[in-house]
Amino acid sequence: LMATPISKKVSPTGCTILVLDITEKVKSEKMRREFSANVSHELKTPLQAISGYSELLMNGLVSDDDIVEFAKKINSESLRMSDLINDIIKLSQLDEQYDVFKKESFDINQLCKELFERYKPITEKKRLDFTSDFPKNPLNINGVPFLIEEMISNLIDNAINYNKPNGSINFSLIENKKSKNVEIIISDTGIGIPEDELPRVFERFYRIEKSKSRDFGGTGIGLAIVKHTAQLHNASINIDSELGVGTTIKIGIETSD
Ligand SMILES: Nc1ncnc2c1ncn2[C@@H]1O[C@H](COP(=O)(O)OP(=O)(O)OP(=O)(O)O)[C@@H](O)[C@H]1O
Ligand SMILES: [Mg+2]
Repeated sequence: LMATPISKKVSPTGCTILVLDITEKVKSEKMRREFSANVSHELKTPLQAISGYSELLMNGLVSDDDIVEFAKKINSESLRMSDLINDIIKLSQLDEQYDVFKKESFDINQLCKELFERYKPITEKKRLDFTSDFPKNPLNINGVPFLIEEMISNLIDNAINYNKPNGSINFSLIENKKSKNVEIIISDTGIGIPEDELPRVFERFYRIEKSKSRDFGGTGIGLAIVKHTAQLHNASINIDSELGVGTTIKIGIETSD
């Protein structure tokens, strides 16, 4: 709250009062602080592992039989770090709505078919039944191909990681010619998300404490990238989940000619 007298020379005839609502500012500063704390925590964990393992190797404290095992751990932790750094860079670019992301017209149906083929062997290995339902005709959208690809990959990754033994995943595209819109739908028969946690899963670094998600090395950035990518494409996100039954996520994007 700020107040300034209208006339300073003679006795003031009135004053201007300025009321600023800084709720949003305080909120975004709090989010930024939390974000930095999370980033440093997430980076420190793999770094500590890397320096610990390499120190043991350097000091000759690892038996010949275990050397490869230790090197593998160092390697996987550094890959994890590099993934995380890439995700963070992408998120901050998306945040600033950077024009580094060039939109172009491309066939999302073709992209989804390729992604389905790429993920098929992975789901087979995990004994998950992966089915798809794509239209025959091309479906063009105006977007950033690699971001759309990453968005869908993140959703399929989640459907795989948070599934149950012998569970299933369906990946489909539904065109709505009237409203010039296409819906990307990924549904799984996985562990589901508790109703009260649903609004929070799109926050950066948010992971469900009690769920099986803690068994995975995820960092809770996947759905934040999904949300930002959807926003950049004016796409809608719809999530429907039932604990112990499964999750369905729908992304609706406008089609182009
Ligand atoms: N399909 C799903 N079924 C059940 N829970 C899910 C599903 N998708 C996401 N979740 C929950 O939401 C959390 C956030 O998901 P998100 O993809 O953002 O992060 P993550 O998978 O933990 O890590 P990563 O950054 O590697 O994607 C997950 O940790 C998990 O608890
Ligand atoms: Mg994920």
